[in-house]
Amino acid sequence: MPEYTLRIRRYSPESGEAAYWDDFTIDLDGHRSVLDGILQARDRFDGSIGIRCSCRAAICGSCGVRINGKPNLACHTHLEEAAETAPDGAIVVEPMGNMPVLKDLIVDMDAVHWKKIQRVTPWLIPDGEVPEREYVVPPESMIDVTQSMACIQCGACVSDCLSMEVDPLFVGPAALAKAYRFVGDPRDGQHFERLKDLAEDPHGIYDCTHCFNCIEACPKGVAPMSQIMRLRRISSADHDIEDRNNGYRHEHAFVRNIERNGLLHEADLLPHSYGGKFHPRAAPELVESLPVILRALQRGKVTPKKALTHPHKAPTDVKRIFRQIHEQDDRYELNLYVVGYEDEEPAGTEAEQADAAGGQLPEERSPNV
Ligand code: FES
Repeated sequence: MPEYTLRIRRYSPESGEAAYWDDFTIDLDGHRSVLDGILQARDRFDGSIGIRCSCRAAICGSCGVRINGKPNLACHTHLEEAAETAPDGAIVVEPMGNMPVLKDLIVDMDAVHWKKIQRVTPWLIPDGEVPEREYVVPPESMIDVTQSMACIQCGACVSDCLSMEVDPLFVGPAALAKAYRFVGDPRDGQHFERLKDLAEDPHGIYDCTHCFNCIEACPKGVAPMSQIMRLRRISSADHDIEDRNNGYRHEHAFVRNIERNGLLHEADLLPHSYGGKFHPRAAPELVESLPVILRALQRGKVTPKKALTHPHKAPTDVKRIFRQIHEQDDRYELNLYVVGYEDEEPAGTEAEQADAAGGQLPEERSPNV
């Protein structure tokens, strides 16, 4: 039986002692999970190791930890896979980040994660008459929210959110993905109110800095950052919500900037985000940004000439892309959970297709969702 070393971070706030690391050698097949390893260490060597778990099948979301520095579900990570990225040969297991530790690998989900979920009114608020029987929803609307519904509330995205590290009040990736679950649901009657609330909140949808960490961290492919971007698009493009955080104008300034220059012309971005170089709203922002502007001038990143003129022009291809987008009546949302289309012609012969589908003929296959 192969042996693995688990290096577990131990910490009990009530003891008053600093955190420390404990090494445990466990023997289990490599395809067994890190959670199995932790439970073996607890059974054999130290019954006081704190770990939260329940389903052991990547469903309940309770065993979120950091393994070799990355958040993941302990029950969903094979020992052999974890050993490959283990520094010094020991699999490092520690509690998730951005949440206070209660004991060893157990974090206080109530203090952060669940509080933020509550913040986004995580239930449906239907509009109009309640139907006599069930609400009938077009299947494509539900496909649209399937991705956010896949969340098992493990907190992995919260653990690695860089915005939350800087601003603990940020509503956060998990809660905002949850918000999209209702904004995308046609049965909900409060889309505008939900979006207005989250756009106006200084810690809301415009507080995300696109670091992509939540997308990488999520073990269920929810891609919380993509849901946040969809909330922004619906808020600004469908509801024209001009928020006090300037998120709406900043996004529009970005688009206009690229449309005009092809590449980002940063000297224009800040003033245009505030209504233009001579807009009264731009002046205080420019004054506040003076130290950064001076540093950029000193290092040659920008010159007065570059700042006042337009060094590049959008190439024809960029203009064509913008023209095509402007001419479209509908905005196409790409739900990454959908991997194909039912009417898409699969590649290869029928026999090859059946082979790839585990012996099923093409017409027997389930929808591509
Ligand atoms: Fe349920 Fe790991 S124990 S997700």
